[in-house]
Amino acid sequence: MRPWTLVTGGAGYVGSIVVDELLERGHRVRVLDSLLHGPVPSLLRMWGREDFDFVHGDVRDADARRAALRDVGAVVHLAAIVGDPACSREPDEARSVNQEGTHELLDDATDAGVQRLVFASTCSNYGKMADSSMLATEEFELRPVSLYAETKVAAELDVLSRSYNGLKTCCLRFATVYGASPRMRFDLTVNEFTRDVCLDRDLVVSGEQFWRPYVHVRDAARSVVLALEAPSELVAGEVFNVGMTSENYRKLDLVEFLRERIPQMQVEFVHRDEDPRDYKVSFDKVNQRLGFGAQRSVLDGIDEVIGLVRSGMLGDPDADVYRN
Ligand SMILES: NC(=O)c1ccc[n+]([C@@H]2O[C@H](COP(=O)([O-])OP(=O)(O)OC[C@H]3O[C@@H](n4cnc5c(N)ncnc54)[C@H](O)[C@@H]3O)[C@@H](O)[C@H]2O)c1
Repeated sequence: MRPWTLVTGGAGYVGSIVVDELLERGHRVRVLDSLLHGPVPSLLRMWGREDFDFVHGDVRDADARRAALRDVGAVVHLAAIVGDPACSREPDEARSVNQEGTHELLDDATDAGVQRLVFASTCSNYGKMADSSMLATEEFELRPVSLYAETKVAAELDVLSRSYNGLKTCCLRFATVYGASPRMRFDLTVNEFTRDVCLDRDLVVSGEQFWRPYVHVRDAARSVVLALEAPSELVAGEVFNVGMTSENYRKLDLVEFLRERIPQMQVEFVHRDEDPRDYKVSFDKVNQRLGFGAQRSVLDGIDEVIGLVRSGMLGDPDADVYRN
């Protein structure tokens, strides 16, 4: 029987779509997740499938890791305290999950004979670029400006240092993700702006000139499968930015996209110092080496999220379960 593919954090916003994509590609998928954001229904539809298994537990818990790693050939490591606000609210927890949890998982995965590990990192690692007219490639200096990105930079180094002998590891630095997922997140820029405009709120935007790349959640999930299935010599010990070079935007551009769809929207631009991230990213490497191209644009994502918010399917889109 084919070994399991373990997805840590598989009940999350990105994870629940990664699980979809892996099952579709014929993987047997096991999820390890602590359900940090409450009992989300994101994986209910998998219940009863023979090729799906779920371990409710913490990635820092040795027993949970042992149960999750039984008969596993590959690991997708997504479990984390995700985002700047969540990490600054609980800095010790963020370091503990994002760095120590990753370290312990790497130890155990090596011991368990796992062959491939894909780690979810972030383009936030580029922080505030000295010259944002440049496109950051994977070799660019990392200048994290938040604890979240600091923990991801540290974890990346750990992940890459373990790519030897049996285990082959790689890091995917996702652009900021958007789009609909069974575990919806409205604390991500495109989703948040779209929800607010849909609900007839005045949009309050800071740092409107700052650049950031964006990627649809289904495209991000597809990149994980590509990295996992690529010949190991293409990915072992490598970092890939995941997104599309043509999808680098300023927040101002997102406002203009939204205005195309909802022309009566109101927007106020304000000055705040809290999030100085400003980076434009090159996605040539993932395209050239893994053949990855995004299939959806920010405008597609806006349409998708408008439809989702208006469908009524989410209940209260402001509910705590929809943010980290
Ligand atoms: N969403 C984005 O824009 C984005 C961008 C770049 C990188 N990423 C990375 O992608 C990954 C997934 O992000 P997401 O947006 O799906 O976030 P998410 O918060 O929706 O998912 C994280 C999942 O990890 C689980 N988790 C948290 N701590 C855990 C622990 N100690 N043990 C086991 N499970 C735990 C949570 O319950 C949750 O289901 C993260 O590693 C994140 O850093 C996300």
